[in-house]
Amino acid sequence: MFTRSSTKRQAKGAEAAPRDPDEGHRGPRHVAVIMDGNGRWAQARGRPRLFGHHAGAKRVREIVNACPDLGVEYLTVFAFSTENWKRTQAEVSGLMSLFRRYISKEARALRDEGVRVRFIGDRVRLDAKLIALMDELESLTEHNERINLTIALNYGSRDEVSRAIKDLAGDVAKGTLSPADVDEETLTKYLDTRVLPDPDLVIRTSGEARISNFLLWQSAYAEYEFVDTLWPDFTKDIFAGIVGAYGVRDRRFGGTST
Ligand code: FPP
Repeated sequence: MFTRSSTKRQAKGAEAAPRDPDEGHRGPRHVAVIMDGNGRWAQARGRPRLFGHHAGAKRVREIVNACPDLGVEYLTVFAFSTENWKRTQAEVSGLMSLFRRYISKEARALRDEGVRVRFIGDRVRLDAKLIALMDELESLTEHNERINLTIALNYGSRDEVSRAIKDLAGDVAKGTLSPADVDEETLTKYLDTRVLPDPDLVIRTSGEARISNFLLWQSAYAEYEFVDTLWPDFTKDIFAGIVGAYGVRDRRFGGTST
């Protein structure tokens, strides 16, 4: 069920254990966020769009750090989509340089704060320096367990599913997988997100109510929250309010309430 917030809130490793839908209304274990509104936030201040992206990057740390106390074990953020290459060359290269700078600058703090960082998305179009930094950050934080941060970079769900099917078909052609064994669980194992549980809650900021090719397969039963706040204004208190409100939702996973 897609819901729009009624209040204008300014307001390849070990697999994650699937959550039992019958275990009651606890907080969301996995929250995914579409961080939208950086450009409008900057434009409202008469500044270039990249100024908004820089402000948005600062929010990521605040939200990551809020997760453990809220019981959120996995946070996935949409940083750059497979469609974002259509933006101007200046914005794309500014974003790529922001990602490089963010990783270099934040790596030590992320490690020391117990954040395990993973990246999802297709790396083919990313530059070698950025890919090296991503690999380094994943290795540097691979033993951390306090909170799992997944950054979606050059990510699109349709692209992810297409790549998964290509790999799966390759295994069928090699004879290591039988077509008769292909089911939902099998396909899930070929996705970039194979080690993550499905998102319980997807939040999109900035007042747009669409999902823009983000975690389509994984969010089949997620709850959605669309908030008007632009991403650079999205505070940990707003986040905590949404996570708290999730606890009263009735998730039935296609069944009925007991
Ligand atoms: C969408 O806002 C935002 C993006 C395409 C970039 C998101 C990037 C960040 C928040 C910063 C970096 C993040 C990390 C993890 C280092 P928009 O530009 O489409 O906003 P608009 O709809 O107002 O134009």
